Amino acid sequence: MNESASIDTIDPHAELRRALSSRPRTIPPRWLYDDRGSELFDEITRLPEYYPTEAEREILSANSAMIAELTGATTVVELGSGTSDKTRTLLDAFVAHGEIQRFAPLDVSEATLLYAAEVLNQRYPDLVVEPVVGDFTRHLAKLSSIGDPGSRLIAFLGGTIGNFYLEERKAFLGALSDVLAAGDWVMIGIDLVKPIERLIAAYDDSAGVTGAFIRNALVAINREMGGDIDVGNFEYVAMWDSREERIDMRLRASEPERATLAALDLEVDLEAGEELRVEISTKFREERLREELTDGGFVDHEFFTDEAGDFALVLARRA
Ligand code: AVJ
Repeated sequence: MNESASIDTIDPHAELRRALSSRPRTIPPRWLYDDRGSELFDEITRLPEYYPTEAEREILSANSAMIAELTGATTVVELGSGTSDKTRTLLDAFVAHGEIQRFAPLDVSEATLLYAAEVLNQRYPDLVVEPVVGDFTRHLAKLSSIGDPGSRLIAFLGGTIGNFYLEERKAFLGALSDVLAAGDWVMIGIDLVKPIERLIAAYDDSAGVTGAFIRNALVAINREMGGDIDVGNFEYVAMWDSREERIDMRLRASEPERATLAALDLEVDLEAGEELRVEISTKFREERLREELTDGGFVDHEFFTDEAGDFALVLARRA
């Protein structure tokens, strides 16, 4: 069996049981992105305080033509593509440049991929759109059969790499490096370290949308696991971890909480004030990412930032 097949045996039940029973208690981030969660995240990207989406769009608008020229990639792959909304800016430039043949969006949602493929086929009639159903933490091996080795660009946008813990991020870059060939390129969106006030505003917005997004993980768990967690008992807390340079998003029980998850045959007992860790969002400095890319076997790093210096796209070549 290949590696993806064996890793694919991760059981969401066992994973959740372990996460809720560990200390500190956590919730695996996959619980954030059900249909409602995806809607709420979409709402987040339109909040005035949430700068990453527009900043990345600005960088793509200003630099896509140069990136098409520099990489000359014939295949563009997008990891966690969703509706491939921002990607159109990138694809417009690649199509205008004239070397691209294929676009392969990879996403966990087959319905989202089919919709995206339809929209893209209409916009780019000469482009082969090859959707790949998969989870970028588990199914990178699927990339090995896509496009011409040495002539591919793998895009990982939105700052999603910031949601990995350090060890997960290293494993991800290593796995990506393993599946790519010399001459392939990666392009990764990263949010940059900035004053704490702006970070907290972006992750604890005044309209409470981020709180609803994080709390929705409990709604999803109740639904899928036959749970009776009192969602209203949990307060959303966003903290800046200055040592790890990341936003840490948690849910704190206001009152003692005793909940049962029938599908796991699990009882969870929380004291008042006890927290569940749901998501992190790491903010980067250029040096830190350069080192990690070098360790992963990527060279020729190029950083592109927006005018305000809030966000960066880093381009690097697999050596
Ligand atoms: C989609 C992972 C990039 O970390 O900024 C936004 C997710 N969570 N607000 C981010 C998120 C809370 C977002 N990413």
